Amino acid sequence: MLVTRHAEARAVLADPAYVPPPVRQDGAEGTLAWLRAQVSRFSTGETHAGRRRVLAGLLAGLEPAGLRRAATAMTVERDGDWRGVPTAVLASALGVEDSAPVAGAVAGAVVAAVAGAGSGYLSGEETPEADAAVARLLTLAGVPVITLLLQGYAATEGLIEAALRHAEPGDEPGALLCETLRHDPPLRATRRLDTRTGETVTIDLVAANRDPDVFADPERFDPARGSGPHLTFGSGIRPCPAPGHALALAAGVLDALLAPPRTPPRPR
Ligand code: HEM
Repeated sequence: MLVTRHAEARAVLADPAYVPPPVRQDGAEGTLAWLRAQVSRFSTGETHAGRRRVLAGLLAGLEPAGLRRAATAMTVERDGDWRGVPTAVLASALGVEDSAPVAGAVAGAVVAAVAGAGSGYLSGEETPEADAAVARLLTLAGVPVITLLLQGYAATEGLIEAALRHAEPGDEPGALLCETLRHDPPLRATRRLDTRTGETVTIDLVAANRDPDVFADPERFDPARGSGPHLTFGSGIRPCPAPGHALALAAGVLDALLAPPRTPPRPR
């Protein structure tokens, strides 16, 4: 079943009878399949609640304003080459230590491993490369930290990429990001299994975010719209636990990229 209306999407996401489609539980330890069986995102009931509490504890120790400043500083330092910045900033804030002999080497290794495991983590596609990336991540951090890095990676980079496509001179990063989340969600759909019927339900977040019952003139990209009830961070029982962190990381990158060029001081 495909859900495209906002109210229906919210109802499904709030109903405990709908669960994430189960992932296999018999992957060899340390592989991508094994990791997916350990994380909050693909678990249900009490297991989900317990794992989610651990993540909430880690997130509570991170200050979004600090993430934003760090993302700006790193983007400036890299002359605007922002790919990997959200992951590197998040990893460092989560205490993945940069103890390598070459400064930044651990950040680089984390970003490469997160990129290598990122798409398989969400899709379930198991490849030797994704397994190697998970093995690498496990040498650097525990499952809860890895979960945060993998959950945040593609969505945050996708959000920045889409926001840059829409950016106009003078745009304020917060407003630009809000409307980008609604109009161009980096996660375009999410799925649930109806435990009563066995049916898989796909929630089309793009369509729900453009539901004319909820958003006036929904096809128009309008940063002045303000933060409406888009569903891009999910809703109901298991929404994204880190919308403030995600927005801070993305806004920090945009602060650096959209800042007006500095005029050099005039010679006296
Ligand atoms: C623009 C960026 C992001 C978007 C759009 C986004 C969106 C979402 C959505 C829609 C879900 C729920 C999926 C579902 O219900 O099927 C989710 C879950 C989650 N997100 Fe995010 N996310 C973003 C960034 C982040 C970041 C940066 C982090 C970590 C700091 C994060 C951590 C998580 C975690 C841990 C879950 C699983 C929650 C659970 O299992 O209960 N997300 N995210």
